Formats: sequence, structure tokens, C-alpha cells
Amino acid sequence: MAKAFHWLGSATMQPSKSADPPNEGFAASGHTERYCGMLVDKAAKQAWSATRDIDWHVPPQRPWWLPRRNHVILTSQFLHGEQVARSACETLLPLLPEGPFRQALETQIADEARHVEAHARYLSRIGDIAPPRPLLVQALGHIQDWQGCAIGLVLATHVVLESEALAIQQELARDFPCPIMHQISRFSARDESRHIALGRVLLRAAALPAQPFEVRLKLHRQLRRLWRDCAAAAKADHGWAFARAAPEGRLETGWRRLQARFRRVGLIGAGEDSLFAETSA
Ligand SMILES: [Fe+2]
Ligand SMILES: [Fe+2]
Repeated sequence: MAKAFHWLGSATMQPSKSADPPNEGFAASGHTERYCGMLVDKAAKQAWSATRDIDWHVPPQRPWWLPRRNHVILTSQFLHGEQVARSACETLLPLLPEGPFRQALETQIADEARHVEAHARYLSRIGDIAPPRPLLVQALGHIQDWQGCAIGLVLATHVVLESEALAIQQELARDFPCPIMHQISRFSARDESRHIALGRVLLRAAALPAQPFEVRLKLHRQLRRLWRDCAAAAKADHGWAFARAAPEGRLETGWRRLQARFRRVGLIGAGEDSLFAETSA
């Protein structure tokens, strides 16, 4: 690979000690312990190797509609995006209690490292790499400087970022004719589904739906700020239509789509839509 970009600093998050729910509020029940154990077992069974399980003998194929320079920029964002995911999980890990939650998150960190490795190898096959776009730099900054509670960080990483990662994986599989990308995408999508499942378990263990309305509203506002800042960074990324990975339209419709996920995990309670609409506007 021609060059590497060491843009990921060390995590500096200091969870606040305000009226937020306490970080020790992740209560493991028999059910959540079993579910985490199942995720850990599944991760072991589904573990794949970026070196052995991808057929690197096939040449990378660029979509006909994508100029080489943009191909490099776009595929580099997949690498950087996976680095953000790994860094976010590493930031979250010490905030979880010892035991099944951490063990499950450790498998996710190993998955994300594998995704990073696969995309790095892909870029080395192309023979070039581009720096992260401002959108990803902004997302990482938000995660690393997260001032809220651990539950908010779980929402940011496992609901907001993971959902987007899965959506991008699906689009990638659909739009990229490259057989190597297809393989990476197929393996990664399976992992990402497990990561989203882990997020749901963590939020259940933190009793998110039972948190007071003010706490959930504050979390919702923090997530909206993260989303808005990322959208602003993408918009200010002059001239470069981010191919299909992060156009402005995605950021607008993506936030609306996220509301349904917030309802599913209990951030927005039944009948509370209008109370949360203010921060969704
Ligand atoms: Fe990933
Ligand atoms: Fe992931």
C-alpha cells in the first residue's frame, strides 16, 4: 500500500456524572447472559479470515460509472468507516461491566479488526488509498469526545452507526460488480447483524425504555446533534458527491428511518412520537 493514514487518536471519552443513567446500569439477567453467550458462540462459528477466505487471485473490478480516482476515494471510506467502528467499540468496552457484555463486545472488536484488514488488503490490491472524508472524521470525533452516558454511546455506535454500516454493506453488494467486494461484503454483513443484535441486548440490559422521559429526550438530542454535525460535514465536503456512500439525501432520510429504530429499542416510547418530533425536525 502506498501510504497509510493514522488518523485515529486514542479514546478520551469521559462519561458525565450528571443526571444521566449510571454506567453501571447494565444489569445482566439470565436471559441476557444466555443471549450474549449465544452471540459469542455464533461469532466463533462465523469467524472468517481476511487472508484465507477471500479469493485475492481475482482482480478488483471498478464499476464502469466510477472514475478511478473516485473508486479509490470511495473504497478508502469503507476502510476508514470500519476503523471508526472498531475505535467506537474500544471506547465503549471499559464502560461495560466485566462478564458477558464485554465478552460479546470483544468479539465485535475482533470482527471490526477483520473488516479493517479486508478493506486494507483490497486497497493494497488497487495500489492506492485516500484519506477519510470529513463525515467520518466528524463521526469519530463525536464518538471519542462523547460526553454523555454509556447508554448514549451504545445508541450512537450500535443503533446509528451500525445500522448505517449495514445499509451501506447492502448497497455495496447491490451496486459494486467487484467479486472481491462481494465476498467482503457478504462476510461483513453477517457480522454486522450480530453487532446490531448486541446493541439491542445492551439497551435492554440498561432498561432504556424504563429511563425517565427527560433522560431519553436528552439522549435523542445528543444523537440528533451527532447526525446533524455529520450531515454538515458531508455538505461542506465541496464538490464531491460522495458517490453512493453518503449523499446528503441519505443523511436526511436516514434520520427519519432511525426514528423507527429508536422506537424499537425503547428510546421513543409508545405515543411519544410528537414529544420527540422537535428534535427530529
Ligand atoms: Fe464492520
Ligand atoms: Fe460492526
